[in-house]
Amino acid sequence: MAKKNPCKRYAIIGIVILVCVCAALTVALDLIVLRSKTPKFRLSSVTVNDLSVTNSTTSPSFYISLDAVYAVKNPNFAPFHYPDTYITFWYGGKRVGVGRVNEDKAKALSTKEVGFKVSLNSRAVSTKNLGRDIRSGMLGLSVGSELRGHVEMLEVVKKNKTPEMSCAMVVNLVDEVVQDLKCD
Ligand SMILES: *[C@@H]1O[C@H](CO)[C@@H](O)[C@H](O)[C@H]1NC(C)=O
Repeated sequence: MAKKNPCKRYAIIGIVILVCVCAALTVALDLIVLRSKTPKFRLSSVTVNDLSVTNSTTSPSFYISLDAVYAVKNPNFAPFHYPDTYITFWYGGKRVGVGRVNEDKAKALSTKEVGFKVSLNSRAVSTKNLGRDIRSGMLGLSVGSELRGHVEMLEVVKKNKTPEMSCAMVVNLVDEVVQDLKCD
């Protein structure tokens, strides 16, 4: 009987180890990516850059330019990639301004913060409640958006996640500041 070839034995051991390593990696990727949490998408700050209001009962109006910062907080061990989208500012059920979000990613276990500008105007708003709010000096706004992104590891394992932004704030028209910024 011929002696067993030791090379053959090493090759088999090598393959077994490789299979185990691949299986372990797959399980690890699975744990990291497939069980990932939905990132948080929020406004982290909003300041007034420019503001003009027409304080009249017959034709009240506003124009407000804001400097804002949005934050994408990624709690996962893999990066979160997100595409271009918009952040919509609402007043009295009407869209009054839209900010832009450019495609980007939030690295693992980190928060991506990006500044953007947005101009709001009252063109689409009915005058009735607007006149009352401008007289009171306080304008309540809500802000909404969503990121249809995914958590991705080594371009192999992907998991879709859609964090939604839902914020509210008050623009103090007299002091020209944003107050009471709150996000869910
Ligand atoms: C609008 O006018 C009223 C009354 O004159 C005043 O109390 C209010 O502060 C004014 N609003 C703004 C935003 O200037």
